Amino acid sequence: MTRLKIFEYPDPVLRQKAAPVAEVDDELRRLFDDMLETMYAAAGVGLAAPQVGVTKRVIVIDTHDEEEGEAPRPLYLANPEIVFRSDEQICHDEGCLSVPDQHAEVMRSASVKVCYLDYHGKPREIEAEGLLAIALQHEIDHLDGVLYIDHLSRLKRQMLIKKLQKMRAGERAGEEE
Ligand code: NI
Repeated sequence: MTRLKIFEYPDPVLRQKAAPVAEVDDELRRLFDDMLETMYAAAGVGLAAPQVGVTKRVIVIDTHDEEEGEAPRPLYLANPEIVFRSDEQICHDEGCLSVPDQHAEVMRSASVKVCYLDYHGKPREIEAEGLLAIALQHEIDHLDGVLYIDHLSRLKRQMLIKKLQKMRAGERAGEEE
């Protein structure tokens, strides 16, 4: 397995609409594996293909809680589609590997039902609530070129981007020393 480069805001690849995959073949399974490895290495809960520069409708998610001693439970989803959203909303502090070291509270549906093709190309359906529901909505957004910061008010988004730029400027200054 290979660790892939994670593209960061404001890279234009994050704004493209990803294309459905025709089938889940060995090449796609390799992408699934590499994305999962990349996500684990970055301590993320979810990763969408556009974040590694691949504009395909492919995501991986694992919401297991290591501190609680839970075993990994990776989910591989190709062509995921939200077919139901609850009216009930929940607020959660979200982050994104493409917007490093930032986080902000976002409102999303408390539960969702998602149809997708699994690691073997088999059609499946998952009903999720809590962190998994949030991760599914966040990652499926990525496939449409949407970042969690787009759900914030303009002011909050600008503040967050400013903090990100300040952090990057600090990192660059550190490298030059
Ligand atoms: Ni993200």
